Parts: sequence; C-alpha cells; structure tokens
Amino acid sequence: MQVVGINSSPRKKSNTDLLLSSVLKGASAGGCEIVHIDLYSYEIEYCKACENCYKTGSCVLMDEFPDVYDLILESDGIVLGSPNYINNVTARMKTFLDRMADTVHCQRLLGKYSAAVSTAGGSGAVEVADYLNHSLFIMGASVVGSVGVNLSDGEEMFQKGVDQSYQLGVMLADAILTKTKYPDQQEEHAAMLERVKNLVLLRKEEWPYEYEYFVRKKWL
Ligand SMILES: Cc1cc2nc3c(=O)[nH]c(=O)nc-3n(C[C@H](O)[C@H](O)[C@H](O)COP(=O)(O)O)c2cc1C
Repeated sequence: MQVVGINSSPRKKSNTDLLLSSVLKGASAGGCEIVHIDLYSYEIEYCKACENCYKTGSCVLMDEFPDVYDLILESDGIVLGSPNYINNVTARMKTFLDRMADTVHCQRLLGKYSAAVSTAGGSGAVEVADYLNHSLFIMGASVVGSVGVNLSDGEEMFQKGVDQSYQLGVMLADAILTKTKYPDQQEEHAAMLERVKNLVLLRKEEWPYEYEYFVRKKWL
C-alpha cells in the first residue's frame, strides 16, 4: 500500500503542507508507505495540446513530469494539496493536471483512492480541495474525502483541520486496505468510461494509441 502526497505551494513554511503532512501521517499509521512530493521542486512545462499522448502514449516534452506521474501510477492512494490562488489551485498544480489529459481518456486511476487538502487566507479552501479531488475522480480515482481550512477562521480551526487531515489519512489507508466501494461514485465512473469509450471510438484513426489501449483493456 503506497500513498503519494503532492503539495503545490511554493512557500517553505506552507500551511497547506501542514495539512498534507497530517494526512500522510494518518495514512502511515494506517499501514501505508508514504511518498511526500514538493511539486515546485520539479520542472514541469505547459501542455502544448499536440495530442501526441493520445496518438502514441508518450509526451513530446522533455521535463520532470514523468518523475511525479510515475509515482502516481505506482501508488494506491493520491493526496493533492494546493493553497487557494484566486479561487483556484496554484498555476503549478494546474500545469501538472493539464499534463494528465490522456489519464482522463484512459481512466488510468481506476481502482486508486484520492484525498485533497487546501488552505485559503479568507475563503474558498473547501472548493479548491473539492476541485482537486474532482480532477482525480474524472481520471478514475475514488474520492475518500477532503479538508479545506480558511485561515480567517482562526488558529483553533486550523488545528482542527490538522486533526481532520490525520483522520482523512487513516480513512484513506482503510479504503485502500479494504478496497472500499462507493456505489454512487462507481455509477459515475461507469458513465465516464462509456463517454470516453465513445470518444476514443470516434477518434480511432487520429488516436491509435488510445484505441489500442482500450482494446487491450477489453473495453472495446
Ligand atoms: C497569488 C496568491 C493568490 C491568493 N488568492 C487567494 C484567494 O483568492 N482567496 C483567499 O482566500 N486567499 C488567497 N491567497 C492566500 C492563500 O491561499 C493562503 O495564504 C494560503 O494559506 C497559503 O497556503 P500555503 O502556506 O500553503 O502557501 C492567495 C495567496 C497568493 C500568494
């Protein structure tokens, strides 16, 4: 059981990373191996929308994206963390997520579990954490939960968020261990698979890699 935690704050003493670390501690107490990543220490370029990943399964950009992406693929649980930057994730996190468009088509995160954390100065932390989870959800992951803390709510609430994050980590480890099923999410995953199946079939000539991937998976 491995869980990778990815923080996308550029700050050294990141509030978001305090929550993320707490999730990872909970997951570790639940029996998971932990990998803790600082996204700002990796060089990650913008997606060029060349569709090469759809066509061939590989990216034309030569940077450090695969170092982080491979950790996601080999993990059972993924925890994303981002501060609220203008009511959204940080640019680095968005850049990272954009590089995973092929992961959406190929539903590569099916069978994995996700959690997310966010902090905000005034408001919006819950929404940002939910966006992070939703991004992994559309790639196939099952969402265990999220924690968002607005610093404006005070130190006591932040401490509460740290404690909730620990519990979230314990729940994540348990979901991985027991292969928890969430019927509502499974239904949406099935509908998503149907949508991408139709898309891949429609674009069969342009995206041969994805078509063959679906055939290998016996989805087509
Ligand atoms: C560029 C930038 C944009 C921000 N935008 C928002 C915002 O829209 N709403 C908000 O409540 N806080 C905003 N903040 C505050 C951060 O979300 C807050 O300080 C957060 O806890 C920082 O997390 P970190 O310590 O993990 O970097 C912004 C901060 C920066 C630097």
